[in-house]
Amino acid sequence: MCPVKLLPHVARTHRNDCSICVYLIKWLILQEKLMNALLVFLHLVAAVTWMGGMGFILFAMRPAAFATLQAPARPQLILSSLQRFFPLVWISIAAILISGLILMLQVGFAHAPIGWHVMFGIGLVMMAVFAHIFFAPYRRARRAAAAQDWPAVGQSLEKMHPLVVLNFTLGWIAIAAVLFWH
Ligand code: HEM
Repeated sequence: MCPVKLLPHVARTHRNDCSICVYLIKWLILQEKLMNALLVFLHLVAAVTWMGGMGFILFAMRPAAFATLQAPARPQLILSSLQRFFPLVWISIAAILISGLILMLQVGFAHAPIGWHVMFGIGLVMMAVFAHIFFAPYRRARRAAAAQDWPAVGQSLEKMHPLVVLNFTLGWIAIAAVLFWH
């Protein structure tokens, strides 16, 4: 019901095309559009940060470290880069999950396009894979680094590599799903 009609002294004379109503409704629609745009923006910033970081590690930093450095400098460089990047990934995961869920709930899970469901499912798998990387090989690498055991650090870093390739691939599948699968 039009909010202006709630005022008893206005209700009797109120016309459906009154300018206050039209203005109010336009304002509410604008607010909703702006909110949605901000949520999609946050979602994209977080996705680009995570995906871009993985791309940089896989295609630039790791090959460059292997081409130019030997142990212990090589595992030291890779590990200290990850120490700086992983907090950003946790923040990105929180932002992706919160913004994505709000966007999905606005439409309702039952009415959301199939591509959104696929993105949600793949996103959850990616988050689980990252949690595994963080709490298993990465934690072992940090412990080995504290003990100056560089071969062990290198081994743990190598265990992370296929998991990062997996997450990078899944990320692109999720993006393709939301864009092409309606
Ligand atoms: C895990 C939970 C996730 C949920 C619930 C979710 C949900 C959504 C929803 C509802 C949209 C549509 C927004 C709209 O068009 O209004 C969307 C778009 C998008 N998502 Fe996700 N998402 C998730 C994970 C991810 C991940 C992991 C990535 C990146 C790897 C990602 C990248 C994107 C991109 C790039 C778009 C924009 C597509 C477009 O331009 O329409 N999302 N997501």
